[in-house]
Amino acid sequence: MGMFVGTQRINSLGHLEIGGCDTVELAEMFGTPLFVIDEKLVRENCRKYRRAFEEYYRGEARVAYAAKAFISTAMCKLTQQEGLWMDVSSEGELFTAMAANFPSNRIYMHGNYKTDEELRYSLNVDVHCIVVDSIDELYSLNSIAKSLGKKARILLRITPGVEAHTHEYIRTGQVDTKFGIQLAGAQAFEATKLALSMDCLELLGFHCHIGSQVFEIEPYRITIELMVEFMAQVKEELGFVTRELNLGGGLGIRYTDTDDPPSIEEFIKAISEATMEECAKHSLQLPILIVEPGRSIIGEAGTTLYRIGVIKEIQGVRTYVSVDGGMSDNPRPALYGARYRAIVANKADREPDFLCTIVGRHCEADVLIKDIKIAKPEKGDILAVLCTGAYHYAMASNYNRFTRPAVVLVNDGKADLIIAREKREDLIRNDIIPERLLNEDKQ
Ligand code: LLP
Repeated sequence: MGMFVGTQRINSLGHLEIGGCDTVELAEMFGTPLFVIDEKLVRENCRKYRRAFEEYYRGEARVAYAAKAFISTAMCKLTQQEGLWMDVSSEGELFTAMAANFPSNRIYMHGNYKTDEELRYSLNVDVHCIVVDSIDELYSLNSIAKSLGKKARILLRITPGVEAHTHEYIRTGQVDTKFGIQLAGAQAFEATKLALSMDCLELLGFHCHIGSQVFEIEPYRITIELMVEFMAQVKEELGFVTRELNLGGGLGIRYTDTDDPPSIEEFIKAISEATMEECAKHSLQLPILIVEPGRSIIGEAGTTLYRIGVIKEIQGVRTYVSVDGGMSDNPRPALYGARYRAIVANKADREPDFLCTIVGRHCEADVLIKDIKIAKPEKGDILAVLCTGAYHYAMASNYNRFTRPAVVLVNDGKADLIIAREKREDLIRNDIIPERLLNEDKQ
C-alpha cells in the first residue's frame, strides 16, 4: 500500500492534491493550519460499512457514526445522506446534530455521567435511545422520564471484561473502568432486572465498547460470545428478548506504515458471522446489530496543512522544523504518543530524504512528529500531516490563545468551508472585565 488514501495524489505541479484540489492552493486560499476533508473517502467508508452488513448479516443492522471523532453540521448532513445513524456523547454533540436537522430518531445518546439536563434534553428531542451507563442513571432517567410524562427507550451499557487497544487486548472477569455495568458478579443481570421493573423505561437491548484503534478481530469475537450468552441468560431467566445489540466502535486505521488494521469489510464480516453463530447456538432471534465507528469513517479522510516557519539545526543532534500549529490542533502526540506520516505538499514528487523533527508553535516541547524523513523543507513550504480527520479538530483547544483552524470539505475540484477559522475576537468573546477592574484604569 502506498502513502496515499482516497483521492490523494500528486498533480502535474508535483503538489499533493486531495479531492481534485491542489493543497498548496487550498493553503493559500483558506490559510493555515487547515483541516482538509476528502468527502469521497468519507462517503466511501460509510458505504463500505453499510454494504458489508447487507452482504454478511442476515438481520437488520445499523451504522451509527461516532460524532466524538469529528462533528459539525455539515458532517451531520453527510452521514445522514449516507443513511447512517449517530452516536452522540454530550449535549453539545446532540445540539449540533439537532441544528443540522439530523433525525433524532436515529440518535444514540451516550455518556458515563449524563447530567439531568442532558437526560431531559435527550428525552425532549426524542432521541432513539439513551445508552444507560450505571444503576444511578437508571433511577434518575426513570424519574426524569416520569416527570416529563414519557417513556425512555434505553440500552444498558455492559462491560464484558474484554479490553482492546491496537495490538493487545486483555480479558478479565472485571475491568477497571468508569464505563458501563460489569457483566461479572451478576451486576449486569441485576441492572437488567431493575430496568425491566421501572415504569418509565423501555429496555431495547445492550451496548458494549471494548476500545479504540483496535487491530484485532479476536477480542470482538470473544465479546460477542459473552454478550450473546448474556442475552440467552436474560431471556431464559427474565423472559427478556434482546432487540438491539450495539457493539460500539473501535476499528483501527493506518496512521503509519506499521499499522495494519483489518478492513471495514473484514471487520463487519467477522462480527456478523460471530453474532449469527452465537445466536444460532443459543436459539436466539437475531438482534438488530449496531456498530459505532468514528475513527474508521473520518480518520484517514482528514489531512492537516501547516505552513513551515523556523528551521533550526542543532549541530550533531537534530533539525527542528516548526509549523504554524501544534498541540492545539493535534494533542494526540502529547496525549498518546501518536505517530504520523507527513509530506511537503509543494514538493510531493521529491525524495523524502531529510531527517527532521516537526514541532508546533506552543510554549512546550510540542513535538508533532519525532524523526521523520521529508523532502528538504524551506520556510514557506506547506507540510501535510496525514490521517488527522478523527479526534483532531474534535480535541482542538485554544491553548496559548491560538484560534482553531478552519475545516474545508473537498470533492471533484470543489472546496467548501465547513467550519470557519476562529477569529482573534472569538477568543475574547466570553471574557468579562468586572467593573471594579475597569475603575483601576483611571489611576
Ligand atoms: N462508541 C463509544 C461508546 C465510544 O466510546 C467510542 C470512542 C466510539 C464508539 C468510537 O470509537 P472509534 O470507532 O472512533 O474508535 N481520543 C482518542 C479516542 C477516544 C475514543 C473514545 N471512544 C484518540 O484520539 O485516539
